Amino acid sequence: MGETNQPRRLPSHLAVIMDGNGRWAERRGLPRSKGHKAGTEAAKNLVTRCRELGVTHLTLYTFSRENWRRSKEEIGFLFDLLGDFLKRELPSLMEQSIRLQVLGQLSELPFATRQVLSHTMKKTRDNKAMTLNLALNYSSRAEIVRAAQQLLREGADPEEVTEEEFASHLYTSGQPDPDLVVRTSGEMRISNFLLFQSAYAEYYFTETLWPDFDAAELDKALAAYAARERRFGGRPAAG
Ligand code: IPE
Ligand code: IPE
Ligand code: MG
Repeated sequence: MGETNQPRRLPSHLAVIMDGNGRWAERRGLPRSKGHKAGTEAAKNLVTRCRELGVTHLTLYTFSRENWRRSKEEIGFLFDLLGDFLKRELPSLMEQSIRLQVLGQLSELPFATRQVLSHTMKKTRDNKAMTLNLALNYSSRAEIVRAAQQLLREGADPEEVTEEEFASHLYTSGQPDPDLVVRTSGEMRISNFLLFQSAYAEYYFTETLWPDFDAAELDKALAAYAARERRFGGRPAAG
């Protein structure tokens, strides 16, 4: 419909719940750790692709606060994998002008992880092309409660607190809200992810397991997004 030479509408902020690593491995008779390893490659390729396309903010749900319920071995493996990944990818983040940010409570992460995260955030601080948020030890409810606590501590006037001021106390302060939230592996739930920020996000669910989420799968998600009509409570578009 009149879209021939129009560039496709792209989300400015894409947020992804990268789910299904364990099942991907189990289906191949492999340990779960192999699924996480493969998932890391999928994440790396997604970052590069989004940067090429011109997505300005990409959020990856990497470890939820609820994920501490997993075995010590799996948790240890995940943080080692993350540390190695960040060390290896720093030159590439610099080259692509990608800024790394963390959404979540850093102080509860293993010391070595905190160190490599702080180092990477510091080095990439002035990169301008894209912001890469890793949601780590993240819980949306905890984030909202923390924002309320900060406001109370600051002695904010209850009558003066606006949605914008509240949002500026979230980890995503200063960033646009997610336009599109993608979840892989067929689960139809949000699992405590960006509840405040995604009030008007479009959602895209796919059966594809995270390690199999490649450029073609991203393209399907972006095509679905471009075909959505966003109303924000207004009337349907005429025609
Ligand atoms: C997502 O894959 C990665 C993390 C939550 C860290 P899962 O590990 O949840 O994989 P499934 O859901 O068990 O297949
Ligand atoms: C959500 O996946 C968290 C991440 C992808 C990091 P989970 O696998 O932890 O979610 P649930 O437990 O199935 O809801
Ligand atoms: Mg899962």
